[in-house]
Amino acid sequence: MKAIALISPDGGLDFVNVPEPAPGPGNIVVEIAAAGVNFMDIGVRRGMAWTDVADPKVIGVEGAGRVVALGQGVTGFAIGDRVAWVYAPGSYAEQVEVPENALVRVPDAIDDRTAAAIMMQGLTASHFATDFYPVQPWDVALVHAAAGGLGMLLTQIVKLRGGTVIGRVSSVAKVEAARGAGADHVIVDEEGHFADRVLALTGGEGVNVVFDGSGPTTFADSLASLRRSGTFCWFGPVLGGPGPIDIMSLPKSIKLGYAVFSDHIPTPALLRERTAQLFQWIIDGKLRVEIGGVYPLADAARAHVDMESRRSTGKLLLIP
Ligand SMILES: NC(=O)c1ccc[n+]([C@@H]2O[C@H](COP(=O)([O-])OP(=O)(O)OC[C@H]3O[C@@H](n4cnc5c(N)ncnc54)[C@H](OP(=O)(O)O)[C@@H]3O)[C@@H](O)[C@H]2O)c1
Repeated sequence: MKAIALISPDGGLDFVNVPEPAPGPGNIVVEIAAAGVNFMDIGVRRGMAWTDVADPKVIGVEGAGRVVALGQGVTGFAIGDRVAWVYAPGSYAEQVEVPENALVRVPDAIDDRTAAAIMMQGLTASHFATDFYPVQPWDVALVHAAAGGLGMLLTQIVKLRGGTVIGRVSSVAKVEAARGAGADHVIVDEEGHFADRVLALTGGEGVNVVFDGSGPTTFADSLASLRRSGTFCWFGPVLGGPGPIDIMSLPKSIKLGYAVFSDHIPTPALLRERTAQLFQWIIDGKLRVEIGGVYPLADAARAHVDMESRRSTGKLLLIP
């Protein structure tokens, strides 16, 4: 089968032939209808993860498709079932082997592309706004990269919970996308100079919560945008962190943490419950998935360039 593998230590990708997977005990092989592109995949390319994985290193972790083979002991799924997953290494391919426990069923009302697009960014946004910091109707949130796949979903979930969103995007071209997701205010900034505008929009008070996965450039002004006792949800290891922090230098009484989606779905039951909530919001018209780019699997490298160059909006998908 065809797959996208990391071919060089400097992050080059190639469209290669690899053997079709055969399902081990408890595992399922899925024919992939759509695979999601995530910054995590760019991190693998940059050598920040999976350094001990053997070649050919087929990248990608997320997708949706149909069950084509069952391993010994699988009881919960049948051939032909429509499924999706948030973390199965090797997902930039025509087929992938996934543990039964890592799969969720896709309702008839949700198409394959929407299912693939909602898994990683939807569960991450859900973690941030309902679990790490359960947004309340009186909260004002600062959402970075508000026109990105994650930012658009996070904005919508904050709005669903009654909060107000100040979105930050890097260019004027992205303002409409952020507003389309429901951002009440949009700040354009690429240099990390936005705290004065956040303070002006909040009557000098600052925001209750900042969601920042945008790298070291935004960290200082995100801190300065927080109101008294505010919460800083940090989440962007691939784009880089602020480096060592002296706790005595932080604004007093704030809460600062590194939120990660896997803590939202620590058990198969929670994975299925929380994904079902996302699917239901979509079916009810409360959550919209914006697919900003669809690429043939062979063009994965182009999708990465578009994402890294900050040209993309919404979710990017690869179609085998
Ligand atoms: N902790 C977790 O559980 C978790 C899970 C998923 C993703 N993440 C993190 O969330 C972030 C978004 O990732 P994603 O995969 O969901 O994609 P995404 O939301 O679609 O992100 C794309 C956005 O990232 C911004 N961006 C791109 N290159 C950048 C750069 N060099 N410097 C600063 N910003 C840049 C751009 O926004 P602007 O140009 O408007 O700034 C772009 O719209 C990443 O940092 C990723 O590591 C964390």
